[in-house]
Amino acid sequence: MYFGCEVLESIPQISRLGKKPLIITGKHFVYFTGLLEKIQKKLENISIKWAIFSDVEENPSVKTVEKAAQAFKGQGCDFVLGIGGGSAMDTAKAVAVLSSNSQGLNKYFGEELVQNPPCPIALIPTTSGTGSEVTRFSVIVDEDNNTKKTIASLSIMPDIAFCDPSLTYTLNPYLTASTGLDALSHCIEGILSVRANPITDILNKETIAMIFRWLPVAVKDGKDKQAREQMMLSSLVAGVSLNCTGTMLGHGMGYTLTLDWSVHHGYASLMFLPQIISLIRERYAQRVEVLDKAFVGDFANRKVENSEGKIIELMEKINLKPSLKTIGIEEKDIENLITRIEKNSQRSLRNIGFKFTTQDIEQVVRKTAGS
Ligand SMILES: [Fe+2]
Repeated sequence: MYFGCEVLESIPQISRLGKKPLIITGKHFVYFTGLLEKIQKKLENISIKWAIFSDVEENPSVKTVEKAAQAFKGQGCDFVLGIGGGSAMDTAKAVAVLSSNSQGLNKYFGEELVQNPPCPIALIPTTSGTGSEVTRFSVIVDEDNNTKKTIASLSIMPDIAFCDPSLTYTLNPYLTASTGLDALSHCIEGILSVRANPITDILNKETIAMIFRWLPVAVKDGKDKQAREQMMLSSLVAGVSLNCTGTMLGHGMGYTLTLDWSVHHGYASLMFLPQIISLIRERYAQRVEVLDKAFVGDFANRKVENSEGKIIELMEKINLKPSLKTIGIEEKDIENLITRIEKNSQRSLRNIGFKFTTQDIEQVVRKTAGS
C-alpha cells in the first residue's frame, strides 16, 4: 500500500507482480489528464511491456469483464493494473478471476466461490469513496437479470495499491460529493452490520469524523490538498472495515436507483439511510446509539443528537438531498420502484441484525420520496 502525492514514483514496484500487465481503465480520465502517458513512461523505464483495455463503463457489466479477459489472454498478459474509480478497479479484479478460472463470471458471484488463485492485482484509484483499492469485493452488473452482483473473495484483495490524492484534484464537485457519500455509507452500514466488531467500530467512527470535516471542503475546493488527502484516506480506511462488515440495506436498496435511474453509486447508497436509521432506531437501539456517538461525539454533558439529522446537515453542505423527488422520481414511479428494490435488496437483508420486512422497505421508500 502506497499513500501520498508522490507514490506514482513507486510504480516500478509492480515489476514483482509479473512481466506484462493489462491496464484496465475507462475511456477518458487517463487520457485527458496525461496519467496514462506518465505511467507508460515509468513502465518503459523498467522495460515492462503492457497492453490496454480502456472500455470500462460506469457500473461495468459481465460482458465488459469477459471482453477484457479475452484481451488479457490474447495479449499474453500475466497481471492486471486497474486505474480509475470503482468501475475500473472492480473490472480489474473480475478479470483477474477469469485469468485463472475458466467458467463464466456468473459462477464466481457470491462468497468465496473463486477456485483457482487469480493473477496478481495492482490498482490506482482516481476517486475517493469506493475503497475497492483495499477490498475483497468486485461488484459487476449482471445485465441478463438487470441486477448488481458481487464477487466476495480474499483471493481478489489487491497485491499493490498506489493511492495518490492528487489524482482526484480534477474530480468535479458532484462526483466528489457522491463518491464521498459512498465512503460514508460504508461507515454507517459497517456500524449497523451484524458483522461489526470493536475494530471496525473504531475505524468507522474515525472515518465518519474525517468525512464530516473534509468532504464539504473537497467539494468546495477540489484542489485543497489536505481535504483530498483526508478523503482518500477515508475511502481507504472505510474499505478496510468493509472487508469485515460488508454493506447492508443502504447499498442493497440503492442498487435499483443506479440500475434503473442512473443515480451515481455513492449518492444512491446514501439515499435511503436516513429513513432506514429512523425506522430501526428503537428495534436496533444499541447499534444506532453507537452510530449517533460516531456522528456527534461521546462527551459528557453533551446532548447526543441523531445521525439522521447530521447526515442531512452534511448533505446540505455538499448540495445533495436524500430525496427521490430531486432525482426525478415521481409518485407514479413508486410502486414499480418498490418492487424492484425488494428484488435487488434481498442479499443485503442477510447482513442485518434486526427485523426488516417488505412493509419496512415500502415505508422507507415512501418517506424518502416525500422528503
Ligand atoms: Fe459502495
